[in-house]
Amino acid sequence: MSYEKFYRFYDAVMGDRSAAASYIASLIDLHRPGARTVLEIGCGTGTILGLLSQSYEVAGLDRSCKMLAVARRKLPHIRLLRQEMMSFQIHRRFDAIVCAFDSINHLHRFVDWRKTFRSVASHLNGGGVFVFDVNTIGKLQRLADGPAWIKQFDRDLVIIKVNRGRRGTSHGTSKSSSTAFVTTTNSSARLSKKRRFQCNAF
Ligand SMILES: C[S@@+](CC[C@H](N)C(=O)[O-])C[C@H]1O[C@@H](n2cnc3c(N)ncnc32)[C@H](O)[C@@H]1O
Repeated sequence: MSYEKFYRFYDAVMGDRSAAASYIASLIDLHRPGARTVLEIGCGTGTILGLLSQSYEVAGLDRSCKMLAVARRKLPHIRLLRQEMMSFQIHRRFDAIVCAFDSINHLHRFVDWRKTFRSVASHLNGGGVFVFDVNTIGKLQRLADGPAWIKQFDRDLVIIKVNRGRRGTSHGTSKSSSTAFVTTTNSSARLSKKRRFQCNAF
């Protein structure tokens, strides 16, 4: 799984997410006034969760061990579970469930989106709200037409490129992928090693 390698760069690549967390909180408060409990599915390294924990009692789940390991270091007092968003089972309900930064686009089949919505619905309290965002086909195509994102992190060079999608046969789906390259320099031998990994697939 791609995030097992990308986790090291994720927070640095994503940067400050406080505006996004405030926006999510404003949506929760608008649509579920008085919400106290929030679950984030696909919580990754826990940055959004940490920000939401200032206002709500939070829990998170993700399928990546490495992303969760980062989250656990940052949020030792928050319940974090390794589970699939399509089929998670937590024996409690929440006032709001959040899926942020296009995590739902990692599900490649529309049937898996349906399973996720069903799992979410079964974990919401009455009047609860599901706040999620998606990368649209149009946005992915615009990114594919644009340049690669390149940044140097100490001795690692990270390059991320969204590739043009393949239009699916049903439900107007389109499959795109982002490819990240990392170049690591071994200074003692003055060698360069290139590792290629998929960091995302829509
Ligand atoms: C783009 S990151 C978002 C992380 C976090 N929500 C944030 O905003 O920083 C997507 C996350 O979704 C997780 N993920 C992808 N597919 C998943 C699935 N089927 N079930 C659970 N987590 C999943 C990945 O492991 C990754 O941590």
